[in-house]
Amino acid sequence: TFVVTDNCIKCKYTDCVAVCPVDAFFEGPNFLVIDPAICIDCDLCVAECPAEAIYQDTKLPPEQLKFLELNAQLCQEWPNIIDIKPAPADADKWNGVDDKLALLER
Ligand code: SF4
Ligand code: F3S
Repeated sequence: TFVVTDNCIKCKYTDCVAVCPVDAFFEGPNFLVIDPAICIDCDLCVAECPAEAIYQDTKLPPEQLKFLELNAQLCQEWPNIIDIKPAPADADKWNGVDDKLALLER
């Protein structure tokens, strides 16, 4: 499965949802996650993310491993998102800021 990681937090560009052939993305207030039970490992979303926040589970950097469980958990709580929407006005300001997990809204 593919996994959305830290740099999506407060960026949430949503370009990823436009290319996903199986609608595997779920939306929280300031972060998106992928449902591992839906993702078919097509790899299309990785190149679409302006924040480079999406990794294959087998290629996750060690400090992003916690996002594997977070994606699996939060996709059960959040609604499906199938259409691209405008990013937060300050998304570019947060792109590249390290370790935003404390800012994740549930
Ligand atoms: Fe969707 Fe493919 Fe990305 Fe999985 S890898 S979330 S199926 S676009
Ligand atoms: Fe997040 Fe990148 Fe999608 S910032 S919403 S994973 S395009």
